[in-house]
Amino acid sequence: ATFTEKQEALVKESWELMKQNIQELSLHFFTTILEIAPAAKGMFSFLRDSEEVPQNNPKLKAHAVKVFKMTCESAIQLREKGEVVVQESTLSYLGAVHVKSGVIDPHFEVVKEALMRTIKGAVGEKWSEEMGCAWGEAYDQLAAAIKAEMKQAA
Ligand code: HEM
Repeated sequence: ATFTEKQEALVKESWELMKQNIQELSLHFFTTILEIAPAAKGMFSFLRDSEEVPQNNPKLKAHAVKVFKMTCESAIQLREKGEVVVQESTLSYLGAVHVKSGVIDPHFEVVKEALMRTIKGAVGEKWSEEMGCAWGEAYDQLAAAIKAEMKQAA
């Protein structure tokens, strides 16, 4: 399946909108991850030792931004090249970090679901099925690249 200009635009426009409120977005994203999979708490250094999801944690924000931003970049690449290519050094780092943190493949579905719910909540009436599919496709391809690298790193 080809990734269309329309799909790319849907992802880019919604990200432009969402990143204006990155603090709240990050918090909502992680709160949702823990709603879906409470046990994931133990994997994240910034969640492990606190009762609640911290309001102003730079590491939490960094992870949320990475997931959103890299998915958005993947959407652009999918439209331009028909595939997602992550820079080799970035990819090997991502593989290593996630293996070391105890991340396994099914966790990527949890994060995908949290990503979708967060986008839906953030864009409000701009949400469409088509927008969700575009984000989902871009995320799946990025996740596949990271998972493949994790197998190398394991
Ligand atoms: C760390 C990106 C999916 C759990 C990181 C880091 C990046 C990243 C860039 C390093 C952060 C840093 O060094 O500051 C991504 C991307 C993902 C993804 C782009 C998907 C497209 C996941 C999933 C999980 C996960 C599915 C598990 C639920 C973690 C954990 C760390 C980490 C536990 C270590 C963070 C810490 O404790 O400080 N990720 N990640 N990630 N990631 Fe992910």
